Amino acid sequence: MKRTGILGLGKYLPANILTNADLERMVNTSDEWITTRTGIKQRRIAADNEATSDMAVKAAKSALKSAGLEPKDIDLIIVATITPDMFFPSTACLLQHKLGAGRVAAFDISVACSGYVYGLTIADQFIKSGFCKHALVVSAEKLSGVTDWEDRSTCVLFGDGAGAAVLGQVETGGILGAALGADGSKGDLLQLPAGGSRMPASIKTVENKLHTIKMEGNVLFKHAVKIMADAALAVTEPLGLKGDDIDIIIPHQANIRILNALAKRMGVNPEEKVYLNIEKYGNMSAASSAVALTEAVEEGRIKKGDIILMDAFGGGLTWGALVIEW
Ligand code: UT7
Repeated sequence: MKRTGILGLGKYLPANILTNADLERMVNTSDEWITTRTGIKQRRIAADNEATSDMAVKAAKSALKSAGLEPKDIDLIIVATITPDMFFPSTACLLQHKLGAGRVAAFDISVACSGYVYGLTIADQFIKSGFCKHALVVSAEKLSGVTDWEDRSTCVLFGDGAGAAVLGQVETGGILGAALGADGSKGDLLQLPAGGSRMPASIKTVENKLHTIKMEGNVLFKHAVKIMADAALAVTEPLGLKGDDIDIIIPHQANIRILNALAKRMGVNPEEKVYLNIEKYGNMSAASSAVALTEAVEEGRIKKGDIILMDAFGGGLTWGALVIEW
């Protein structure tokens, strides 16, 4: 059976930059705390009139261009987001229309920060089964719209952006394996409580800021390190790959300390093998690893034949790891 590979990558980052110095003027924090505790220096913030699908369409167009394909060539659209334009229609349907793609299957997945790895894995299955030829996977988030800008424990962390991939059959390389998982028993560690059927929007939910991200950061931190390391093993071991065989790790970018700890557990040098963009963009949930993969390729950090490990962890809890031969 032929493998699925990435035919093109794209990204979009809003122009507006929010620096740690800006945040020092908004909440009781410091550049020193944010930098040493997280690795973040700045993040991008979407314009008021810029929704998730607006960012998604720009990333998608750039991925299509790099794949040398047209919107009409796509026969499956998956959008990974926890900040859709609205509950429904899905952002994938909005994207299909804005892109001018055909009347092909389009749906959103809600997997928080693991969304890109889940999306690529789902697309791989659809392509391998023969259901579709070219799949478009877009991870797009406008986290600034669900951030409590008075809560210093969360508002310094997040940013907005989008990344996209076009997938199809390849003759060489491609996706070698994937491992996905979830643990719903720990869902309360990272959530947006109101606005759904459990707690519909009301004046009270707005007054109590229940439409913004609530996170138990330090508990999550400990889970993140172990779960990302376990996910990496779950995908690499069956393939017979060891830390040394991995040329580059493209992880979800939640915290530089998590990624250093992950590298240590995997026995690899973080500076050499772990791709980082957290300094520039903060945590963009599903979009983080999508933009990271795109930029790693743009910067020439990935060359033909390289073994790439993608590794993500997020709310749900969810996690996913994927090995790609470039
Ligand atoms: O995206 C996927 C899921 N997310 C994650 O995996 C996130 C994982 N968690 C983290 O990255 C880290 O836990 C955080 C960056 C969120 C927090 O870092 P931490 O080292 O775990 O800090 P903490 O929450 O234990 O807080 C330590 C101290 C507290 O003060 P006291 O109680 O020790 O006096 C906080 O109030 O740091 C304080 N603090 C801040 N101080 C300055 C919390 N946020 C800030 C801030 N500026 N922005």
